[in-house]
Amino acid sequence: MNNTRPIGVFDSGIGGLTVVKALRDLLPNENISYLGDTARVPYGPKSPETVQRYAIELAEMLMKDDAKALVVACNTVSSVALPTLTKKFPVPVIGVIEPGARAAVSATRNLHVGVIGTRGTIRSGAYEKALRAANSNVRVSSQACPLLVPLIEEGLLNDEITDRMILRYLEPLLKADIDTLVLGCTHYPLLAGAIGRVLKRQIMVVDSAQNCARAIENMLDEQSLRAAPMNNGQLRVALTDAADNFLNVARDALQLQFGEIEIRALS
Ligand code: DGL
Repeated sequence: MNNTRPIGVFDSGIGGLTVVKALRDLLPNENISYLGDTARVPYGPKSPETVQRYAIELAEMLMKDDAKALVVACNTVSSVALPTLTKKFPVPVIGVIEPGARAAVSATRNLHVGVIGTRGTIRSGAYEKALRAANSNVRVSSQACPLLVPLIEEGLLNDEITDRMILRYLEPLLKADIDTLVLGCTHYPLLAGAIGRVLKRQIMVVDSAQNCARAIENMLDEQSLRAAPMNNGQLRVALTDAADNFLNVARDALQLQFGEIEIRALS
């Protein structure tokens, strides 16, 4: 089996590169075509209808690259558009929410899970639904953290102001006695160090990027879609508008190698 068609990965912007990093580490033979909608980021504050429309446009662009699967490397999109995308496209569609929810349910001991994400993700209730589907006894405490994405994009990954914001957002969850925290936004793995610093007690942190990569591996095996072990996987990155400083932040933090960025205009 040697299916060298690319895995199409998309996000509202550059944050989805955390999923690409996890994918590159786990599946180095796979070709990846990444598309970030830098022209219209952020999606977090937008309505579900708008996010669904944007998601369809991005998926269509990746299908033109002959994607063998679509990976929604964005929690906000995954929380509102997965059924629409699954119905519309003839390839497997994997999001970040279900894999993260399943990992959280396996990790929690006291059955109380905290979730942080954008306003759109938290408002959708998608994590509660997925967590309860995995274990109906689980309690969920959620917190929208709208200021974390801009702090990450400014590169303030190790900064007192970011630590203070994290603490402020996490305090209610810690008081409610969660023992597991889902990082429900593709930007947040870049804050893993800061979150570890701020958490005073032992909390299991579930990173949706890593768990999504494992779900993709299982799907490729189940559907016999893997590239052969001798294939040297290539990563192509395209954006819908010029990248800002966040691309350098992400590239440095993730140690990802990719060539020139292609700019693909939205039609
Ligand atoms: N990529 C988005 C997510 O994972 C965060 C950035 C945005 O608001 O578009 O939810």
